[in-house]
Amino acid sequence: MKTIERSIFKGRDFISLHDFSQDELSCILDVAREIKAEQKAGRPHTILQGKTLGMIFTKSSTRTRVSFEVGMYQLGGHALFLSGRDIQLGRGETIADTARTLSRMVDGIMIRTFSHQEVLDLAKFATIPIINGLTDLLHPCQVLADLMTIQEYKGRLAGLKLAYIGDGNNMAHSLLFGGAKMGLNVVIASPQGYKPDPSVVALAQADAKENGGSVEVIDDPLEAVKGADVLYTDVWASMGQEEEAKVRMTAFEGYQINSDVMKRADQSAIVMHCLPAHRGEEITDEVIEGPQSVVFDEAENRLHAQKAIMALVI
Ligand code: CP
Ligand code: NVA
Repeated sequence: MKTIERSIFKGRDFISLHDFSQDELSCILDVAREIKAEQKAGRPHTILQGKTLGMIFTKSSTRTRVSFEVGMYQLGGHALFLSGRDIQLGRGETIADTARTLSRMVDGIMIRTFSHQEVLDLAKFATIPIINGLTDLLHPCQVLADLMTIQEYKGRLAGLKLAYIGDGNNMAHSLLFGGAKMGLNVVIASPQGYKPDPSVVALAQADAKENGGSVEVIDDPLEAVKGADVLYTDVWASMGQEEEAKVRMTAFEGYQINSDVMKRADQSAIVMHCLPAHRGEEITDEVIEGPQSVVFDEAENRLHAQKAIMALVI
């Protein structure tokens, strides 16, 4: 990894893809590819020897927890799992005090929590880099891994059509930001009442204009997938929305990626899902297990993409 790359990123937070330029995101993706190749070749790349990452979780996780912990280990460092239930944050200690305390002991913090503001506050008071491992608003690490996966399958990003079918949630928001920055044509199809946040859409629209992509939010899922190179979906009820699950089941009827929907996309389209998936709801078993599904490449690329982020910012 070039010293120049590390000097551009060192000390920065990774909270939203909107905070990075197209060149910077391309650079992180290049480093991720390099780190993946090194790992596959069995060459150790212990760039973070002696460094420690604190990982705060107030929501569940399989991929995020394992990929950050394994990633930090492979980089020669150490990761600490800090459950929101067990640390004093869960008993009312403030984010500001948590940020200042951890800043004296660890070299970076990854946080997965409900409120996006909490992550912004953590970054405000911490003197070390903060990495967003998912909030109700955004999931930037997932989309970085997804962009890496799209590049691997399609050989490029700019000019591709990505259709996202379903809830205008954290995944939709980060796909809007990441897609717009990298010059993709992103179309989101969601039912009324479940559209992405208009302020995110407006920022993504401006990013798209600057970077040669486009952003569109529509109602009709069949229209959205027409000729698409990438189909994406996510659960209808996210973490924290369990009580709305029944109502959402009805609202999202017709917003499913199934074999009929697949027929309208490009023949060589890939199908993506951040996982965990609810088969039979947002995606059929047939499609997620089918030849066009790349969901486990996405999961694996979480490891490589996040190692790139950590190697650059810490
Ligand atoms: N996609 C993702 O972030 O998975 P986890 O919730 O398992 O971390
Ligand atoms: N939208 C989902 C993503 C999980 C990785 C959630 O927030 O639960």
